[in-house]
Amino acid sequence: MALRRGAELGVSRSLLLRSALGAVDSSAATQVPGASLRTVSSSAPVAAADYSYEPPGSSHCFVPGPVNIHEKTRRAMMVPGQNHRDPWFSPFFSKILEDVRMIFGTSQAQTFIYPGTGTGGWESGLQNTLSPGDKVLTWRYGQFSHLWVDMMERLGLEVQVEEAAWGSGVDEAKLAEILKADTEKKIKAVCVVHNETTTGVTSDIGKIRETMDAGDHPALLLVDGVSSIGGLDFQFDKWRVDVAITGSQKALSLPTGLTVLAVSDKALEAHKTAQMPRVYYAWQDMLNNYPAGQVPYTPIIPLLHGLRASLDLLSSEGFENVVKRHHRLAEGTRAAVNGWGLKLLCEEPRWRSDSLTVIKVPEGIDSALIVKNAYAKYNLSIGVGLSKVAGKVFRIGHLGNNDEIMIASAICGAEMAMIDAGVDITPGSGIGPALKYWQETSSVIPTRAAP
Ligand SMILES: Cc1ncc(COP(=O)(O)O)c(C=O)c1O
Repeated sequence: MALRRGAELGVSRSLLLRSALGAVDSSAATQVPGASLRTVSSSAPVAAADYSYEPPGSSHCFVPGPVNIHEKTRRAMMVPGQNHRDPWFSPFFSKILEDVRMIFGTSQAQTFIYPGTGTGGWESGLQNTLSPGDKVLTWRYGQFSHLWVDMMERLGLEVQVEEAAWGSGVDEAKLAEILKADTEKKIKAVCVVHNETTTGVTSDIGKIRETMDAGDHPALLLVDGVSSIGGLDFQFDKWRVDVAITGSQKALSLPTGLTVLAVSDKALEAHKTAQMPRVYYAWQDMLNNYPAGQVPYTPIIPLLHGLRASLDLLSSEGFENVVKRHHRLAEGTRAAVNGWGLKLLCEEPRWRSDSLTVIKVPEGIDSALIVKNAYAKYNLSIGVGLSKVAGKVFRIGHLGNNDEIMIASAICGAEMAMIDAGVDITPGSGIGPALKYWQETSSVIPTRAAP
């Protein structure tokens, strides 16, 4: 299937390889009108770099995960080998399970922390609440919602997939219609990717819940919040979400390696009768161990120290401020896109993502070339267009541990890389409006004296 994970990996693997080889040549100028010398060609053979050294400064990572890791978090993870059976671990881990509720917007949900990634979180959510052959309803509007559908099908669920344009989100009117038609209540779960990281679209989970309530439908609500939870507003309790999933390398600003779930009482009840086979991600094994502050396997202790530090940073900032910061950084980035005269892939303003911005490039320009230039010339990583939108868009991630000046650097790099790739924009046309927006909206850091 064209959209399977392998296809996506194929793109990024060759990109990485070429980048690692220092793919710099001068032929791009002949391929793209207006492109300057010393840009990376998308098709020419890889030429050896004329110099080789570790770039000075820092690597600028602005993909929508993995994201920048705060210095305090990095240091917190530098620990010697530790034994999770020693007495310190139990209160330490129990407190993390409790405190991680903050990012989900819940005061009471059961949380689970697994070594794994967001994909593992998907599997855990499905396996523990559903039985083979159960009907689930979901939307496909990007590569991640596609991959979740693929998993649902491979797990033997009967999947009703609503196809939507890549750039749109869940249409609540359509949802209402489908639920109304389901008079026998065969749909056991509505599964939604909250923030589609392929397209920069955030669907409205609050409205989805209202629609389910209005239709008096008992289905579970399973939400992939991998690139939203921890950065964007998420109201697990208020929206009565049943399973919400995130991954450590996104807004939690940690290395990849943990998936974190919040689970409602209703989902825990469903879990008692759900028949899907499960082993590693079985909730019951965790529930048997959690009261003693333990886990049924060897935990990734450095990542748990990192998670502790990350939660402390988020709570000292104040989670409402974290959400506001994400909005401010996104608005500045959108001001830059507007200044460039380019368009977002996201179709409706209400769905604009505060986690990342996905930018459509003009006809005749290959967006992969912009991403390659950014990496090869400016040591900047920005996101490629995935699958159906490969070559058509690039992505700037602004979720997680970022501030205005960091995102300004990403916009500057993207601006230069676009000009290198032949996009007809004036230097400063994007970063100027972004800076103006941030200069007007940023406030004094509470621990610093105002000038
Ligand atoms: C929205 C979304 N869901 C799921 C995933 C899969 O997560 P992971 O790569 O951690 O398995 C990603 C990864 O980028 C994502 O962005």
